Amino acid sequence: MIIAIDGPAASGKGTLGKRLAHHYGFRHLDTGVIYRAVAQALLEAGADLSDEVRAVAAAMELDPEKFGNPVLKTQKVGDAASVVSAIPKVREALISFQRQFAADPPGAVLDGRDIGTVICPNAEVKIFVVADPHVRARRRTLEALARGEIADEAAVLADILKRDERDKNRATAPLIAAPDAVLLDNSHLDIEGGVRVAIDIVEAVRAGRSRV
Ligand code: DC
Repeated sequence: MIIAIDGPAASGKGTLGKRLAHHYGFRHLDTGVIYRAVAQALLEAGADLSDEVRAVAAAMELDPEKFGNPVLKTQKVGDAASVVSAIPKVREALISFQRQFAADPPGAVLDGRDIGTVICPNAEVKIFVVADPHVRARRRTLEALARGEIADEAAVLADILKRDERDKNRATAPLIAAPDAVLLDNSHLDIEGGVRVAIDIVEAVRAGRSRV
């Protein structure tokens, strides 16, 4: 079974993906990390983020061993990832890695922006996670503070809005819910509540109660 979880920045889709994968014994891929790793490779090399040739080369040389690098979680790298991810050839170079991950047994949860629409359009379950931008900004700020980073909630909100705008309006694989995705609004849910709703959605599909 493939579970596709899409949604905007800081919507909680990553945590949800990880928890769902754990619940079902599936493997989990946070696809945002892939774009962040490409962006970080360019930043490290001092290259321009719009340098298509270098960005594609970085995408083709991707090293999953580096996905755990904590620098990938920073706002600076997230912003840069939003820029490089708008380059169609970068996205193209990353498709087969993601599809291969999804296809390997016993099942997989992938979270990102275009999993249900482009990467795994045949996923058995598609969930589109949304949350009020102010709630997302508050959560992201608290997470940053907990990591010991300096974070200003108003600046985090501005960054989230800018990133939403860029991710929704790019020409290739924009952030949009697949027509057969189930919407999960977690503005007023804590992590446990969101996980419960997501499990209910998966169980409904497994029971054949709905095709999502
Ligand atoms: O989910 P995230 O914040 O880690 O993603 C960082 C950026 O990567 C995001 O702004 C857009 C891009 N991204 C994408 O274009 N497609 C994906 N499947 C995942 C992330």
